[in-house]
Amino acid sequence: MFSLMKDLIYFDNAATSHPKPESVYLAVDEALRAGGSPGRGGYRQALTTERLVFETREALAELFNVPDSENFIFTPNATVAINQALFGLLSAADRVVTTGTEHNSVCRPLRALQDRGVEVVKVGVDRSSGCVAAADLKAACMEKPTRLLLVNHCSNVSGALQPVLELGGWCREHNILFMVDGSQTAGCLPIDFQQLAVDLFAAPGHKGLLGPQGTGFLYVRQGLELIPLIYGGTGANSSSLLPPEDLPERLECGTLNLPGIAGLKAAVDFLRQTGIETIRKRETGLVEMLVQGLQAVPGVTVYGPEKIDLRGGAISFNLNGWDPAEIGFELDQRENICVRAGLHCAPDAHRSIGTYPQGTVRVSPGYFSTEAQVERLLSVIRRFSTERQSN
Ligand SMILES: Cc1ncc(COP(=O)(O)O)c(C=O)c1O
Repeated sequence: MFSLMKDLIYFDNAATSHPKPESVYLAVDEALRAGGSPGRGGYRQALTTERLVFETREALAELFNVPDSENFIFTPNATVAINQALFGLLSAADRVVTTGTEHNSVCRPLRALQDRGVEVVKVGVDRSSGCVAAADLKAACMEKPTRLLLVNHCSNVSGALQPVLELGGWCREHNILFMVDGSQTAGCLPIDFQQLAVDLFAAPGHKGLLGPQGTGFLYVRQGLELIPLIYGGTGANSSSLLPPEDLPERLECGTLNLPGIAGLKAAVDFLRQTGIETIRKRETGLVEMLVQGLQAVPGVTVYGPEKIDLRGGAISFNLNGWDPAEIGFELDQRENICVRAGLHCAPDAHRSIGTYPQGTVRVSPGYFSTEAQVERLLSVIRRFSTERQSN
Protein backbone atom coordinates (compact mmCIF):
# COMPACT_ATOMS: atom_id res chain seq x y z
CA MET A 1 0.00 0.00 0.00
CA PHE A 2 2.77 2.45 0.94
CA SER A 3 5.64 2.85 -1.45
CA LEU A 4 8.70 3.71 0.61
CA MET A 5 10.35 6.61 -1.20
CA LYS A 6 14.08 6.67 -0.64
CA ASP A 7 14.63 10.29 -1.59
CA LEU A 8 11.62 11.61 0.34
CA ILE A 9 12.32 14.72 2.38
CA TYR A 10 10.04 14.73 5.39
CA PHE A 11 9.53 18.13 7.02
CA ASP A 12 6.25 17.48 8.84
CA ASN A 13 7.54 16.43 12.24
CA ALA A 14 5.12 18.84 13.94
CA ALA A 15 2.30 16.55 12.74
CA THR A 16 4.05 13.29 13.51
CA SER A 17 7.76 12.48 13.61
CA HIS A 18 9.35 10.49 10.83
CA PRO A 19 11.44 8.43 10.66
CA LYS A 20 11.40 6.80 14.08
CA PRO A 21 14.52 5.30 15.65
CA GLU A 22 15.07 1.78 14.29
CA SER A 23 14.48 0.32 17.77
CA VAL A 24 10.89 1.66 17.69
CA TYR A 25 9.96 -0.35 14.59
CA LEU A 26 11.50 -3.46 16.11
CA ALA A 27 9.72 -3.02 19.45
CA VAL A 28 6.31 -2.59 17.78
CA ASP A 29 6.85 -5.68 15.68
CA GLU A 30 8.02 -7.74 18.64
CA ALA A 31 5.10 -6.74 20.89
CA LEU A 32 2.53 -7.36 18.17
CA ARG A 33 3.95 -10.81 17.44
CA ALA A 34 4.32 -11.76 21.13
CA GLY A 35 0.64 -11.13 21.97
CA GLY A 36 -0.99 -10.72 25.36
CA SER A 37 -2.63 -7.72 26.94
CA PRO A 38 -1.86 -5.97 30.24
CA GLY A 39 -4.39 -6.59 33.02
CA ARG A 40 -6.15 -9.16 30.89
CA GLY A 41 -4.77 -12.42 32.24
CA GLY A 42 -2.60 -14.01 34.92
CA TYR A 43 -0.50 -16.05 32.50
CA ARG A 44 3.12 -15.16 31.90
CA GLN A 45 2.60 -13.51 28.54
CA ALA A 46 0.03 -11.10 29.97
CA LEU A 47 2.29 -10.35 32.93
CA THR A 48 5.14 -9.57 30.54
CA THR A 49 2.97 -6.96 28.80
CA GLU A 50 2.04 -5.49 32.20
CA ARG A 51 5.71 -5.13 33.03
CA LEU A 52 6.36 -3.43 29.70
CA VAL A 53 3.58 -0.90 30.32
CA PHE A 54 4.93 -0.26 33.83
CA GLU A 55 8.46 0.22 32.51
CA THR A 56 7.22 2.68 29.89
CA ARG A 57 5.49 4.74 32.59
CA GLU A 58 8.70 4.63 34.64
CA ALA A 59 10.74 5.78 31.63
CA LEU A 60 8.37 8.74 31.13
CA ALA A 61 8.48 9.58 34.84
CA GLU A 62 12.27 9.66 34.67
CA LEU A 63 12.32 11.72 31.47
CA PHE A 64 10.03 14.36 33.00
CA ASN A 65 11.47 14.09 36.53
CA VAL A 66 8.41 12.88 38.40
CA PRO A 67 8.65 10.46 41.37
CA ASP A 68 5.41 8.55 40.72
CA SER A 69 4.89 6.89 37.36
CA GLU A 70 1.21 6.02 37.99
CA ASN A 71 0.42 9.67 37.30
CA PHE A 72 1.02 9.08 33.58
CA ILE A 73 -2.18 8.01 31.81
CA PHE A 74 -1.74 6.44 28.38
CA THR A 75 -3.98 7.89 25.68
CA PRO A 76 -4.14 7.40 21.89
CA ASN A 77 -2.87 10.96 21.23
CA ALA A 78 -2.66 14.43 22.78
CA THR A 79 -6.25 15.26 21.85
CA VAL A 80 -7.74 12.54 24.07
CA ALA A 81 -5.36 13.55 26.88
CA ILE A 82 -6.53 17.18 26.62
CA ASN A 83 -10.21 16.14 26.51
CA GLN A 84 -9.74 13.91 29.56
CA ALA A 85 -8.16 16.78 31.45
CA LEU A 86 -10.74 19.42 30.52
CA PHE A 87 -13.95 17.38 30.73
CA GLY A 88 -12.61 15.61 33.82
CA LEU A 89 -11.91 18.86 35.63
CA LEU A 90 -14.26 21.62 34.56
CA SER A 91 -17.93 22.18 35.29
CA ALA A 92 -20.46 25.02 35.14
CA ALA A 93 -19.24 28.34 36.54
CA ASP A 94 -15.56 27.37 36.35
CA ARG A 95 -13.32 29.91 34.65
CA VAL A 96 -10.42 29.03 32.34
CA VAL A 97 -7.76 31.39 31.07
CA THR A 98 -5.91 30.31 27.95
CA THR A 99 -4.07 31.85 25.01
CA GLY A 100 -5.09 32.98 21.55
CA THR A 101 -2.72 30.49 19.97
CA GLU A 102 -4.17 27.14 20.98
CA HIS A 103 -4.75 24.11 18.77
CA ASN A 104 -8.32 22.97 18.03
CA SER A 105 -7.76 20.04 20.39
CA VAL A 106 -7.97 22.70 23.13
CA CYS A 107 -10.30 25.23 21.48
CA ARG A 108 -13.02 22.74 20.58
CA PRO A 109 -13.39 21.02 23.97
CA LEU A 110 -13.36 24.48 25.57
CA ARG A 111 -16.05 25.63 23.15
CA ALA A 112 -18.16 22.57 24.09
CA LEU A 113 -17.57 23.33 27.77
CA GLN A 114 -18.79 26.90 27.26
CA ASP A 115 -22.18 25.37 26.41
CA ARG A 116 -22.06 23.75 29.87
CA GLY A 117 -21.48 27.10 31.56
CA VAL A 118 -17.67 27.23 31.69
CA GLU A 119 -16.21 30.71 31.15
CA VAL A 120 -13.30 30.79 28.71
CA VAL A 121 -10.95 33.77 28.44
CA LYS A 122 -8.42 33.85 25.58
CA VAL A 123 -5.43 36.12 26.06
CA GLY A 124 -3.98 37.62 22.87
CA VAL A 125 -0.46 36.99 21.63
CA ASP A 126 2.03 39.42 20.12
CA ARG A 127 1.25 39.57 16.39
CA SER A 128 4.83 39.57 15.16
CA SER A 129 6.34 36.92 17.46
CA GLY A 130 3.29 34.78 18.31
CA CYS A 131 4.35 34.89 21.99
CA VAL A 132 1.99 35.56 24.87
CA ALA A 133 3.18 37.69 27.79
CA ALA A 134 3.18 35.95 31.19
CA ALA A 135 2.05 39.26 32.73
CA ASP A 136 -1.05 39.33 30.49
CA LEU A 137 -1.98 35.77 31.47
CA LYS A 138 -1.54 36.56 35.15
CA ALA A 139 -3.62 39.74 34.82
CA ALA A 140 -6.44 37.80 33.12
CA CYS A 141 -6.33 35.18 35.90
CA MET A 142 -6.63 37.90 38.55
CA GLU A 143 -9.71 39.54 37.03
CA LYS A 144 -12.05 36.92 38.51
CA PRO A 145 -11.65 33.62 40.43
CA THR A 146 -10.01 31.24 37.93
CA ARG A 147 -9.88 27.45 38.10
CA LEU A 148 -7.37 26.71 35.35
CA LEU A 149 -4.65 28.39 33.33
CA LEU A 150 -3.98 26.40 30.15
CA VAL A 151 -1.05 27.25 27.88
CA ASN A 152 0.27 25.74 24.67
CA HIS A 153 4.00 25.32 25.37
CA CYS A 154 4.89 25.88 21.72
CA SER A 155 2.66 26.94 18.84
CA ASN A 156 2.40 24.42 16.04
CA VAL A 157 1.92 27.40 13.69
CA SER A 158 4.37 30.18 14.64
CA GLY A 159 6.75 27.91 16.53
CA ALA A 160 6.66 30.42 19.42
CA LEU A 161 7.67 29.05 22.81
CA GLN A 162 5.52 30.41 25.62
CA PRO A 163 6.80 31.51 29.05
CA VAL A 164 5.53 28.45 30.93
CA LEU A 165 8.34 28.52 33.51
CA GLU A 166 7.07 31.87 34.79
CA LEU A 167 3.55 30.56 35.35
CA GLY A 168 3.42 27.29 37.29
CA GLY A 169 4.82 28.57 40.61
CA TRP A 170 2.68 31.70 40.34
CA CYS A 171 -0.45 29.59 39.74
CA ARG A 172 0.33 27.48 42.79
CA GLU A 173 0.68 30.61 44.95
CA HIS A 174 -2.70 31.80 43.67
CA ASN A 175 -4.49 28.48 43.95
CA ILE A 176 -5.04 28.19 40.19
CA LEU A 177 -4.48 24.89 38.41
CA PHE A 178 -1.86 24.98 35.66
CA MET A 179 -2.02 22.87 32.52
CA VAL A 180 0.41 22.73 29.61
CA ASP A 181 -0.23 21.36 26.13
CA GLY A 182 3.22 19.95 25.43
CA SER A 183 2.39 18.55 22.01
CA GLN A 184 5.19 20.43 20.27
CA THR A 185 7.79 20.24 23.03
CA ALA A 186 7.71 16.80 24.71
CA GLY A 187 10.90 15.06 23.59
CA CYS A 188 12.25 18.22 21.93
CA LEU A 189 13.14 20.35 24.95
CA PRO A 190 14.31 19.43 28.45
CA ILE A 191 11.11 19.48 30.55
CA ASP A 192 10.99 18.96 34.30
CA PHE A 193 7.42 18.73 35.64
CA GLN A 194 8.50 19.64 39.17
CA GLN A 195 10.29 22.77 37.99
CA LEU A 196 7.32 23.59 35.73
CA ALA A 197 4.98 23.15 38.73
CA VAL A 198 2.42 21.74 36.38
CA ASP A 199 -0.84 20.07 37.46
CA LEU A 200 -1.72 18.62 34.06
CA PHE A 201 0.47 18.04 31.01
CA ALA A 202 -0.76 16.51 27.76
CA ALA A 203 1.53 15.17 25.05
CA PRO A 204 1.44 12.92 22.01
CA GLY A 205 3.84 9.98 21.96
CA HIS A 206 4.15 10.19 18.19
CA LYS A 207 5.71 13.64 17.67
CA GLY A 208 8.90 14.70 19.51
CA LEU A 209 8.83 11.64 21.73
CA LEU A 210 9.45 9.64 18.50
CA GLY A 211 6.96 6.89 19.34
CA PRO A 212 4.30 5.39 17.05
CA GLN A 213 1.01 7.03 16.11
CA GLY A 214 -1.76 5.98 18.48
CA THR A 215 0.26 6.91 21.57
CA GLY A 216 0.10 9.84 23.96
CA PHE A 217 -0.24 10.60 27.65
CA LEU A 218 -1.82 12.82 30.22
CA TYR A 219 0.21 13.57 33.34
CA VAL A 220 -2.01 14.25 36.34
CA ARG A 221 -0.33 15.75 39.40
CA GLN A 222 -0.52 13.54 42.52
CA GLY A 223 -3.75 14.22 44.43
CA LEU A 224 -5.60 15.99 41.61
CA GLU A 225 -8.88 14.20 40.94
CA LEU A 226 -10.46 14.01 37.49
CA ILE A 227 -13.79 12.51 36.48
CA PRO A 228 -13.10 9.77 33.90
CA LEU A 229 -13.88 10.61 30.30
CA ILE A 230 -14.36 6.94 29.39
CA TYR A 231 -15.87 4.12 31.46
CA GLY A 232 -15.22 0.40 31.02
CA GLY A 233 -13.08 -2.56 31.91
CA THR A 234 -9.67 -2.07 33.46
CA GLY A 235 -8.74 -5.62 34.38
CA ALA A 236 -9.09 -4.72 38.10
CA ASN A 237 -12.07 -4.26 40.52
CA SER A 238 -14.28 -6.06 38.00
CA SER A 239 -17.10 -6.67 40.49
CA SER A 240 -17.78 -2.94 40.96
CA LEU A 241 -19.88 -0.78 38.67
CA LEU A 242 -17.70 2.16 39.60
CA PRO A 243 -14.30 2.87 38.06
CA PRO A 244 -11.24 2.11 40.23
CA GLU A 245 -10.20 4.91 42.63
CA ASP A 246 -6.51 4.78 41.80
CA LEU A 247 -4.46 6.03 38.89
CA PRO A 248 -3.66 5.01 36.27
CA GLU A 249 -6.56 2.50 36.02
CA ARG A 250 -9.18 5.11 36.95
CA LEU A 251 -8.56 7.04 33.74
CA GLU A 252 -7.30 4.24 31.53
CA CYS A 253 -9.90 1.67 30.53
CA GLY A 254 -10.26 -0.58 27.53
CA THR A 255 -7.42 -2.57 26.01
CA LEU A 256 -4.22 -0.55 25.79
CA ASN A 257 -2.27 -0.03 22.57
CA LEU A 258 0.47 -2.42 23.61
CA PRO A 259 2.50 -2.38 20.36
CA GLY A 260 2.33 1.42 20.44
CA ILE A 261 3.42 1.56 24.07
CA ALA A 262 6.28 -0.87 23.34
CA GLY A 263 7.37 1.47 20.54
CA LEU A 264 7.04 4.46 22.85
CA LYS A 265 9.26 2.75 25.43
CA ALA A 266 11.95 2.15 22.80
CA ALA A 267 11.61 5.77 21.67
CA VAL A 268 11.95 7.16 25.20
CA ASP A 269 14.98 4.94 25.76
CA PHE A 270 16.46 6.38 22.56
CA LEU A 271 15.78 9.94 23.76
CA ARG A 272 17.37 9.28 27.13
CA GLN A 273 20.43 7.68 25.56
CA THR A 274 20.81 10.48 23.01
CA GLY A 275 20.04 13.23 25.53
CA ILE A 276 17.29 15.83 25.10
CA GLU A 277 19.89 18.64 25.10
CA THR A 278 21.57 17.02 22.08
CA ILE A 279 18.22 16.71 20.32
CA ARG A 280 17.33 20.33 21.07
CA LYS A 281 20.73 21.52 19.81
CA ARG A 282 20.40 19.57 16.56
CA GLU A 283 16.84 20.72 15.88
CA THR A 284 17.63 24.34 16.77
CA GLY A 285 20.54 24.30 14.30
CA LEU A 286 18.22 23.13 11.51
CA VAL A 287 15.51 25.63 12.49
CA GLU A 288 18.04 28.48 12.46
CA MET A 289 19.29 27.44 9.03
CA LEU A 290 15.72 27.31 7.71
CA VAL A 291 14.65 30.65 9.21
CA GLN A 292 17.72 32.49 7.94
CA GLY A 293 17.58 30.80 4.55
CA LEU A 294 13.88 31.56 4.06
CA GLN A 295 14.22 35.14 5.26
CA ALA A 296 16.82 35.70 2.54
CA VAL A 297 14.45 34.63 -0.27
CA PRO A 298 12.77 37.61 -2.01
CA GLY A 299 9.03 37.70 -1.29
CA VAL A 300 9.15 35.34 1.71
CA THR A 301 7.62 36.28 5.07
CA VAL A 302 8.68 34.08 7.98
CA TYR A 303 6.39 34.18 11.03
CA GLY A 304 7.23 33.66 14.68
CA PRO A 305 9.93 34.88 17.09
CA GLU A 306 13.10 36.53 15.82
CA LYS A 307 15.16 35.03 18.64
CA ILE A 308 15.99 31.42 17.89
CA ASP A 309 15.87 30.37 21.57
CA LEU A 310 12.19 31.42 21.63
CA ARG A 311 11.43 28.96 18.83
CA GLY A 312 10.41 25.32 18.84
CA GLY A 313 10.55 23.12 15.77
CA ALA A 314 7.81 24.52 13.49
CA ILE A 315 8.49 27.33 11.01
CA SER A 316 5.67 29.02 9.12
CA PHE A 317 6.17 31.14 6.02
CA ASN A 318 4.40 32.56 2.98
CA LEU A 319 5.73 33.52 -0.43
CA ASN A 320 4.30 36.50 -2.36
CA GLY A 321 2.21 35.44 -5.33
CA TRP A 322 1.75 31.88 -4.07
CA ASP A 323 -1.08 30.29 -2.13
CA PRO A 324 0.35 28.15 0.69
CA ALA A 325 -1.62 25.13 -0.58
CA GLU A 326 -0.03 25.53 -3.99
CA ILE A 327 3.47 25.49 -2.48
CA GLY A 328 2.61 22.37 -0.46
CA PHE A 329 1.27 20.65 -3.58
CA GLU A 330 4.24 21.57 -5.78
CA LEU A 331 6.76 20.52 -3.12
CA ASP A 332 5.06 17.16 -2.82
CA GLN A 333 4.38 16.44 -6.47
CA ARG A 334 7.49 17.87 -8.09
CA GLU A 335 10.10 17.73 -5.37
CA ASN A 336 9.16 14.86 -3.05
CA ILE A 337 9.22 17.20 -0.04
CA CYS A 338 6.54 16.84 2.64
CA VAL A 339 5.47 20.06 4.34
CA ARG A 340 2.07 21.10 5.62
CA ALA A 341 0.06 23.98 4.17
CA GLY A 342 -3.10 25.67 5.49
CA LEU A 343 -4.40 26.24 9.00
CA HIS A 344 -2.76 23.28 10.80
CA CYS A 345 -5.88 22.71 12.98
CA ALA A 346 -5.18 26.00 14.73
CA PRO A 347 -7.25 28.85 13.22
CA ASP A 348 -6.87 30.99 16.36
CA ALA A 349 -3.10 30.84 16.02
CA HIS A 350 -3.38 32.09 12.44
CA ARG A 351 -5.79 34.88 13.41
CA SER A 352 -3.29 35.96 16.05
CA ILE A 353 -0.39 36.35 13.59
CA GLY A 354 -2.50 37.66 10.68
CA THR A 355 -2.41 34.60 8.41
CA TYR A 356 -6.10 33.65 8.60
CA PRO A 357 -7.80 32.34 6.46
CA GLN A 358 -5.19 31.32 3.87
CA GLY A 359 -2.78 29.93 6.46
CA THR A 360 0.91 29.32 5.92
CA VAL A 361 3.38 26.75 4.68
CA ARG A 362 4.76 24.95 7.73
CA VAL A 363 8.18 23.30 7.68
CA SER A 364 9.09 21.18 10.69
CA PRO A 365 12.43 19.36 10.63
CA GLY A 366 13.20 16.65 13.16
CA TYR A 367 16.17 15.03 14.80
CA PHE A 368 16.85 12.87 11.74
CA SER A 369 16.59 15.72 9.20
CA THR A 370 19.82 16.86 7.55
CA GLU A 371 21.40 20.13 6.47
CA ALA A 372 21.43 18.84 2.88
CA GLN A 373 17.63 18.40 3.01
CA VAL A 374 17.23 21.94 4.36
CA GLU A 375 19.45 23.26 1.57
CA ARG A 376 17.37 21.42 -1.00
CA LEU A 377 14.12 22.91 0.27
CA LEU A 378 15.66 26.38 0.30
CA SER A 379 16.87 26.03 -3.27
CA VAL A 380 13.35 25.05 -4.41
CA ILE A 381 11.76 28.00 -2.58
CA ARG A 382 14.33 30.32 -4.19
CA ARG A 383 13.30 28.92 -7.57
CA PHE A 384 9.59 29.37 -6.80
CA SER A 385 10.32 32.96 -5.84
CA THR A 386 12.17 33.61 -9.10
CA GLU A 387 9.48 31.87 -11.23
CA ARG A 388 6.67 34.09 -10.03
CA GLN A 389 8.68 37.29 -10.02
CA SER A 390 9.73 36.89 -13.63
CA ASN A 391 6.14 36.03 -14.78
C1 LIG B 1 -0.19 22.22 19.90
C2 LIG B 1 -0.90 20.94 19.61
N1 LIG B 1 -1.81 20.47 20.48
C3 LIG B 1 -2.47 19.32 20.26
C4 LIG B 1 -2.23 18.57 19.13
C5 LIG B 1 -3.00 17.29 18.92
O1 LIG B 1 -2.13 16.19 18.93
P1 LIG B 1 -2.66 14.75 18.51
O2 LIG B 1 -2.74 14.74 17.03
O3 LIG B 1 -1.63 13.80 19.06
O4 LIG B 1 -3.98 14.54 19.14
C6 LIG B 1 -1.32 19.02 18.19
C7 LIG B 1 -1.09 18.27 16.94
O5 LIG B 1 -0.68 18.80 15.95
C8 LIG B 1 -0.61 20.23 18.44
O6 LIG B 1 0.30 20.70 17.59
